[in-house]
Amino acid sequence: MSLVSLADFKAHAQEHLSKLSWDFIEGEADEGITYNDNIAAFKRIRLRPRYLRDVSEVDTRTTIQGQEIEAPICISPTAFHSIAWPDGERSTARAAQEANVCYITSTYASCTLEDIVAAAPRGFRWFQLYVQSDWELNKQLIRRAEGLGFKALVITVDVPVTGKRRRDIRNQLNLEANIMLKDLRSPEAGNSTQSAKFHMSLPSRSFCWNDLSLLQSITQLPIILKGILTKEDAELAVKHNVQGIFVSNHGGRQLDEVPASIDALTEVVAAVKGKVEVYMDGGVRTGNDVLKALALGAKCIFLGRPIIWGLACKGEHGVKEVLNILKEEFQTSMVLSGCRSVAEISPDLIQFSRL
Ligand SMILES: Cc1cc2nc3c(=O)[nH]c(=O)nc-3n(C[C@H](O)[C@H](O)[C@H](O)COP(=O)(O)O)c2cc1C
Repeated sequence: MSLVSLADFKAHAQEHLSKLSWDFIEGEADEGITYNDNIAAFKRIRLRPRYLRDVSEVDTRTTIQGQEIEAPICISPTAFHSIAWPDGERSTARAAQEANVCYITSTYASCTLEDIVAAAPRGFRWFQLYVQSDWELNKQLIRRAEGLGFKALVITVDVPVTGKRRRDIRNQLNLEANIMLKDLRSPEAGNSTQSAKFHMSLPSRSFCWNDLSLLQSITQLPIILKGILTKEDAELAVKHNVQGIFVSNHGGRQLDEVPASIDALTEVVAAVKGKVEVYMDGGVRTGNDVLKALALGAKCIFLGRPIIWGLACKGEHGVKEVLNILKEEFQTSMVLSGCRSVAEISPDLIQFSRL
């Protein structure tokens, strides 16, 4: 079967992966209300195209945090890529570098940061940090990320504990036994190998707004908060001088019954008033979805599961194809709606009366 859409990659990936791996990747929390709504909410939005504009040339390029990317379609942090493809994050990094988009590398990558950077030395990357209770460890991780050329820190705020993923409980998934983890504390020794002594370092439960200044005193890197869903938190984020806000509900894997990301985006964009860039992820599967997110104020969208589907199907080439398919669909959506550049994508494109 030829793979022409992200939905095709999803179906093909499911055939390639064990049930345990597939269930971990899909992994919705509780009843999956938000997981389903992330997709459904995009489909409730209708577009208002403009015609008779010269769309013989259309440019998908944009910038995030001042750096140019080929299209506003980048890679969300997702853990444990070796579950989908043996070369893990090294393959993801190569594909992102070739596509000239940003790859946010997870704290829980299954390869070391050093190996990821060595695989794609010219890649544009941000580092996603799950803030740990041990501040020495936070400092160490940040220094490594800085030294390796990561350009921003993405602080995930929606995981004080892991959401209840029913599939993983039924499957008795034990990450430490099933996935090749690395020890965050010792980048050189024992990495990419299982160790009986290894314990997964969990995010801090006590990390709060006041601790942001501590992070800011450790690093000069731009700080982006991932997982913001309300205007109140968006306003606090601006007040605490972060450089970016990432609207996300973790792909419906954390608190269930929160709004779909695309629905939360409008409220956050309005609260931020253009002071910082706003990004989003969750349920982006087509070029029209990208167009809608940008029209509603996102500077860039990010992909979680579709990247893992690409990896599971064809490794680095699969990730490249997923990114290419979405970029081409987005370009077509721009042409068909009369937008010649990303700057021309505006809220007028959206029909607000819902079906
Ligand atoms: C298997 C998997 C692992 C994830 N791991 C992380 C992670 O380590 N850090 C993080 O901030 N978000 C993580 N996420 C959430 C993603 O960054 C992202 O918010 C979500 O997948 C976006 O939704 P989508 O899958 O519909 O594109 C993970 C998501 C999945 C599916």
